[in-house]
Amino acid sequence: PTGCEREWVDGGAEAALRALSSVVALGANIICNKIPGLAPRQRAICQSRPDAIIVIGEGAQMGINECQYQFRFGRWNCSALGEKTVFGQELRVGSREAAFTYAITAAGVAHAVTAACSQGNLSNCGCDREKQGYYNQAEGWKWGGCSADVRYGIDFSRRFVDAREIKKNARRLMNLHNNEAGRKVLEDRMKLECKCHGVSGSCTTKTCWTTLPKFREVGHLLKEKYNAAVQVEVVRASRLRQPTFLRIKQLRSYQKPMETDLVYIEKSPNYCEEDAATGSVGTQGRLCNRTSPGADGCDTMCCGRGYNTHQYTKVWQCNCKFHWCCFVKCSTCSERSEVFTCK
Ligand SMILES: *[C@@H]1O[C@H](CO)[C@@H](O)[C@H](O)[C@H]1NC(C)=O
Ligand SMILES: *[C@@H]1O[C@H](CO)[C@@H](O)[C@H](O)[C@H]1NC(C)=O
Ligand SMILES: *[C@@H]1O[C@H](CO)[C@@H](O)[C@H](O)[C@H]1NC(C)=O
Repeated sequence: PTGCEREWVDGGAEAALRALSSVVALGANIICNKIPGLAPRQRAICQSRPDAIIVIGEGAQMGINECQYQFRFGRWNCSALGEKTVFGQELRVGSREAAFTYAITAAGVAHAVTAACSQGNLSNCGCDREKQGYYNQAEGWKWGGCSADVRYGIDFSRRFVDAREIKKNARRLMNLHNNEAGRKVLEDRMKLECKCHGVSGSCTTKTCWTTLPKFREVGHLLKEKYNAAVQVEVVRASRLRQPTFLRIKQLRSYQKPMETDLVYIEKSPNYCEEDAATGSVGTQGRLCNRTSPGADGCDTMCCGRGYNTHQYTKVWQCNCKFHWCCFVKCSTCSERSEVFTCK
C-alpha cells in the first residue's frame, strides 16, 4: 500500500478528519481563486472561512439588488461598465452613485452575516451572548430569545469589505467612509422585539431581543442619504502628504462629514451615453414613461434623443360567469398597449 493509504488505516478517525479538512481546504482554494476581483487579504479570509464566503456573496448580491430597486427609475440604474467583482461592477468616478453602492454592499454583507449567525449557519458566531439572560433593571425586562449579534456582522463586513481598499489615495478614504456609513445606518435601525409572559398575557415578566431591520428599510434610508450626499475633499496632513482625512468641500470649511453622511469627491456624469471613462452604460434601450414628469419620463431618461414606441396587444380572460352546474364561462378581452424605449 502507498503511504497515504497506510495513514488512513493507522491513524483512524483523526487522520480521516485531517484528510477531509484538507479536501475542504482544497475546495476553498479553487473557489477563492475563481472569484474575480478579490484583494489579497480578501482571498486569505475566503480561504480560512469558506463557509462565510457564500454568505458574503449573498450579502453583496442583496446590496446590488436593493441598489437596482432604489434606482429603477433613474438614468443610472446601478449598472456600470468595467471589471466584474463580488460587489458588482465598480464605478470609476468617485461620485455619489459610487458612494451609494459602497454603503449598500457593506451594509448588505453585515446584514447577511448577522442573519446567518442568528440561524446557526456560520461557525464562530451565533446569537449575541452578551445579552443572553441579563436583566434590564431600569425597564424591568429580561434579555431572552436570540438577539442578533450585529456587532459580529459589522466587524466581519469591516474586515472583509474594507480589505479591498489597498491604494492609499483619496478614493480609499471616500470608500471607507461610505462603507462605515452603510454599516452605521444598519446598526442604528436594529429593533427591539418583546414578548409578555404571565397569566392571560398579564406581562408579569417580559423578555426582549434585538432583531435586524428589513433590508428594504436600510435601502430607503441610504437612498435619502444619497439625495443629501456631501461633497468632500481630502486633507493631506501628514509629513508624507498622504491623504489623511476628509472635510466638507466649502470655502473656509474645516468641518468633517458626519458618520452617517454619504460622501463623494467627484461630480457625477449625466449617465446619458455609454462612456468607458466614467463607467456609464448610457440609457439607450431603457424603458421610459411618456407622461411622467419625473426621472423616468422619456424626455429626461432619453436625454432628448427621443424614444421608440413598441405596440403590443394584451390578451386576458374576462367577464367570467359561473354556470349551474358546474362550469365557468369567460370571454377574451384584449387591449392595445404601448411601451417606450430610449433611442
Ligand atoms: C441558513 O441555512 C438554511 C439551510 O441551508 C437556509 O435555508 C437559510 O436561508 C440560511 N439562512 C441564512 C440567513 O443564510
Ligand atoms: C440598466 O440599464 C442598462 C442600459 O440600458 C440595461 O442594459 C440593464 O439591463 C439595466 N439594468 C437593470 C437592472 O435594469
Ligand atoms: C407613467 O407616469 C404617469 C404619471 O406619473 C403614471 O400615472 C403612470 O402610471 C405611469 N405609467 C407607467 C406604465 O408606469
